[in-house]
Amino acid sequence: PPPPPPPPPPPPPPFFFHPHPPIPDPLWSRGLGDVYKRQETSCDETAVALHDSSSGIIAETVYSQIDLHKKYGGVVPELASRDHCEKIIDVFNDGIGGVDLHDIDRIAYTAGPGLLGALIVGESFAQGLAFALNKPLIPVNHLEAHFLSPFLDFPEIQYPFTSLLVSGGHSLIVDVKDFEDYEIIGQSLDDAVGEAFDKVGKLLQLPYPGGPHIEEAAKNGDPMKYDFPRPMKHSDDLNLSFSGLKTAVLYATKDLNINDERSNISASFQEAVIDVLSTKIKKAMKQTGNKSLVMAGGVAANKKIRAALDMLEEKEGFKVFYPSIKHCTDNAAMIAYLGSLKTESKNIYNSNVRARWPVSEI
Ligand code: KG4
Ligand code: ZN
Repeated sequence: PPPPPPPPPPPPPPFFFHPHPPIPDPLWSRGLGDVYKRQETSCDETAVALHDSSSGIIAETVYSQIDLHKKYGGVVPELASRDHCEKIIDVFNDGIGGVDLHDIDRIAYTAGPGLLGALIVGESFAQGLAFALNKPLIPVNHLEAHFLSPFLDFPEIQYPFTSLLVSGGHSLIVDVKDFEDYEIIGQSLDDAVGEAFDKVGKLLQLPYPGGPHIEEAAKNGDPMKYDFPRPMKHSDDLNLSFSGLKTAVLYATKDLNINDERSNISASFQEAVIDVLSTKIKKAMKQTGNKSLVMAGGVAANKKIRAALDMLEEKEGFKVFYPSIKHCTDNAAMIAYLGSLKTESKNIYNSNVRARWPVSEI
């Protein structure tokens, strides 16, 4: 007799990072709240979330492409767009957490800034959904979503506040006077803070993205071992610069056994970043007179930086808010939330995506 057929291969592992929380009492089905669906595809995360105006975020999923880009040491734009295309339907099905599509009232999506190909995938999907469901479509600015993201966890935050937005692509200090009234009072003149973490991570032969790995390596290191420069720490303005610091790390790693010094260099680099950010934030809080500081973006996940700003909170007498860790890095919850506050797009079949979209133009 022929041998029995081999057993079927095991199913692939699920690829979702944050399974959506249990869905509370479905208020939307009783018409008590508006439900906003939002998706995020600006760079290397595909994410979908549902926001209900009465209960807040009721479902969310983030699929990260980190494993795809890791072997290249950074995000490869073309691979990112293709992967968004392949994953968006599965992520969408997971991210709406079993809610009937017809109960969704509006659809928000990231229109920029970001990688153009990735943005187009998200926009096309959102336009198709809005057309099929005959629902309004809301293009959202990714940076604005980041600096309003702490409202997801702290609805009690009051305008005005100062925002320190530190991600892989941007470093901004913003005077958030009111909703849609933003003044950029400082920004990086070269590398973003997250970008500096990623580049230094590469120099230290750490996996991409460098930020979380440097934070981990720094735990066993001496922050005083290397006296790295604090670029623009004493400049009169609130601008930042990190490329000189990165170059200093490059020189320090020359002729060195990286394995022996990885922790010390990580700790000393992180210390230099903390020193510059703390000084600029102290200055920004004095200049604006704001009583609250909000830190957002991927680098806001760094506990050492949070601890340093917490110390300022005590000394300088302002209050600091951070999003929960999962809402620091790219996520759809912040887009769904912002979509719930925005007016809808007038002509949804025009393309609104922009690789560059300064918040000063909102
Ligand atoms: O906001 P985000 O997810 O994506 C962008 O919009 O850029 O930020 C990603 C950035 C990466 O550069 C990453 O290295 C950095 O945030 N990051 C961190 C940490 N976690 C993520 N940087 C320092 N410490 C961390 N724990
Ligand atoms: Zn981001």
